[in-house]
Amino acid sequence: MSHFSKKEKIIENYGIDKGKRSNQFKSRLYSEPRWDPSWKKFRDMEWETFSKLEVAEKIPLFTKNNRLYDCLFAQQFDRELLDRLCRVADKLREITKTSAGDRFVTNLLFDKRAILVFNQPSSRTFLSFQNACHILGMKTSEIRDVSTSSFAKGESPLDSIRTFASYVHLMIMRMKEDGFVEQSAWHLNSKTNRPIPIINAGSGTDQHPTQALLDIYTMTRLLDGGIDGKNIVMVGDLKRGRTVRSLSYLMKNYSGVKITYVSPEEFRVGLDILEFLRKHRINYTETYDFESAIRDADVIYMTRIQDEYDKNGESKKVDYSKYYFKPEHLKIIKPTCIIMHPLPRRNEIDPKVDFDERAVYWRQERNGMWIRAALISYIFNIDHKIMVYKVGV
Ligand code: NCD
Repeated sequence: MSHFSKKEKIIENYGIDKGKRSNQFKSRLYSEPRWDPSWKKFRDMEWETFSKLEVAEKIPLFTKNNRLYDCLFAQQFDRELLDRLCRVADKLREITKTSAGDRFVTNLLFDKRAILVFNQPSSRTFLSFQNACHILGMKTSEIRDVSTSSFAKGESPLDSIRTFASYVHLMIMRMKEDGFVEQSAWHLNSKTNRPIPIINAGSGTDQHPTQALLDIYTMTRLLDGGIDGKNIVMVGDLKRGRTVRSLSYLMKNYSGVKITYVSPEEFRVGLDILEFLRKHRINYTETYDFESAIRDADVIYMTRIQDEYDKNGESKKVDYSKYYFKPEHLKIIKPTCIIMHPLPRRNEIDPKVDFDERAVYWRQERNGMWIRAALISYIFNIDHKIMVYKVGV
């Protein structure tokens, strides 16, 4: 014989009154809607149609509550957001110098988890993202070899992405296939009820928006007077280098910038980028002449040959040595010029150049961790907490 009434039994079993139970579940489900109402119009749109839209038409599906949600394209950033992320990154550096500050920051996202899904080699981007998550207290898991996942059992890539996303609150993706990171975000936001934000950590030859962010952060920190009005010289495989593409897009946020593209004929920057620059009235020139171009540069942005995208070993036929930065070039560049490289480098920059104070690529890679932490804090809407934190109080 039970000593409990039916209602009491239920309360004992569930710890909650059954009458209130459905409401409690409802409030848990609906308290923080994952969906943005403005995404509704994309529900019935197939990928073939969506993928052909202009970037400006796509951006609403990757924006939630008027805030960047998925970070996929450099075109999603305006000047206000870029300046803000630079300030948040600076503040994070400052706060985490004290153990009290460090504890405060690691509590900000202690209840969140991220997964890093990378099917291309990576050192800096992987580690800086992983450590950016750890700075904010997020736990991380990773898939670096998709052959160990159910991709290998014939699962559709989008089903795999949905599975990865189902355990975490953020997915950071690097994919060798152009457009697949974007397709994943499109799928989660328009075809499932459980989207999570996705950050593009490099998609094929297409874009690498967070590399461009850290490049901007580095220039903002190191150039006297910031980026406005500067002459930025980009060198190398501009055709397949996704960092150059994303960085070129971000230049629309700065006034009076001049871009000089230096590359062999085979690796000239894409016509879509040049069209974008013309549309936004950004001054640019193209040249094969490395030595003349670097003389009055404020920034020299070196890149490596992207031969992993060769179809028939075509890169081997290109003489790239004219596009190497050698120690003697240090004598002809401006004293205030900075030399950057997204890294990894091969022979494009002689290691002897590393000792010159204008060589900033090692600082550039460390900046990546801080600006990525700033970006994640922005996506989770906690960046204001970082900004109002009083250091030393
Ligand atoms: C770049 C990339 O992956 O596109 N690396 C990086 O993320 N720092 C540049 C490159 O690999 O050449």
